[in-house]
Amino acid sequence: MGKDVIIACDFAGKAQVIEFLEKFGDRKLFVKIGMELFYAEGPEIVREIKARGHKIFLDLKLHDIPNTVKKAMAVLSHLDVDITNLHAGGTKAMMEAALEGLTREDGTRPLLIAVTQLTSTNQERMEADLLIKEPIDKVVMHYAKNAAEAGLDGVVCSPLEAGKVHDLCGEKFLTITPGVRFADGDKGDQARVMTPAEAKKIGSDYIVVGRPITAAEDPVAAYDRCVAEFVD
Ligand code: C5P
Repeated sequence: MGKDVIIACDFAGKAQVIEFLEKFGDRKLFVKIGMELFYAEGPEIVREIKARGHKIFLDLKLHDIPNTVKKAMAVLSHLDVDITNLHAGGTKAMMEAALEGLTREDGTRPLLIAVTQLTSTNQERMEADLLIKEPIDKVVMHYAKNAAEAGLDGVVCSPLEAGKVHDLCGEKFLTITPGVRFADGDKGDQARVMTPAEAKKIGSDYIVVGRPITAAEDPVAAYDRCVAEFVD
């Protein structure tokens, strides 16, 4: 899989997501399904979107003991998603177990991506709540390295970190980057943002774009603009 734009389908239910996807006619998209939609609609929503020919990044961010994550990943692998993820904070043992669970009998598996530190966690919260005293950039890079050593395919990171992650973990280690906004667009609640063109320049492999597409007056035009800036 090469560079692509993943649309964050952060909708409350099936009706809204299907209505949104139908605006694109027969076009095949890469969509991110998160906890809200998955917990509301269950695995059926994944089957339904897959059956329409779209690729799926199932963003459930698993984090539990290795055995539980392994078994949960085995279930997810049968949903035939293209990418799924977990928290690197679950340790290398958990990530290795996850990969084992995700691998199907024929040896194929979805790509597995790690979340390092959430962008909602800042230095102050990490030190006070998690008792991690190292600089947050160092923690993010350490977690990325752990993910690479455990055999994962990449990390979710800010576009600003994508270059550094590639330097540390190799060019083939994927960087999936949210926090993308058009130069003339609304930043919303994202603090550190980049345009699709900048994300391309810095080496992001996939950009995850939600509201700049889903809340646009013309979502198809907004998606096409992302593709033109990032992929073409
Ligand atoms: O609407 P917006 O483009 O901000 O959506 C970005 C998507 O990426 C959302 O689904 C959000 O939960 C997700 N995300 C993020 N920042 C992270 C990890 C995931 O914005 N660090």
